[in-house]
Amino acid sequence: MTIKDLIAKAKEVSSKAYAPYSNYKVGAALLTKSGKVFTGCNVENSSYGLTNCAERTAVFKAVSEGEREFIELVIYVDSDSLPVPCGACRQVLSEFCSNLKITVISNKEQLETTIKELLPLRFKL
Ligand code: THU
Repeated sequence: MTIKDLIAKAKEVSSKAYAPYSNYKVGAALLTKSGKVFTGCNVENSSYGLTNCAERTAVFKAVSEGEREFIELVIYVDSDSLPVPCGACRQVLSEFCSNLKITVISNKEQLETTIKELLPLRFKL
């Protein structure tokens, strides 16, 4: 699975986003240590706070299928601004991966980072 494949999958799933309120359609592709890819899109709600972000959808799909070890995440948005994960998603991602590589892509630019860089100190029980 190459980064190009992951980008293609993130783009493809962004078309499934349910985003009638923001019109900000996000797609995420999460590569597991075992070589599987789980995709996710954002799912909004008329009660805005119930919205689920694309990367959390992907993580929850993976964990519910028994996968907990992640290597790489690509997040794409059909917009000009970079879809850098929100604080809630950083915390969720950090629960499972201390060393996750993250690539964020918009229609204008691309950036590579890590969960360590985005959330150097995570909340932990
Ligand atoms: N969103 C994501 O999917 N991922 C993020 O990390 C930040 C925001 C979604 C949630 C909402 O549907 C839309 O982007 C605008 O906030």
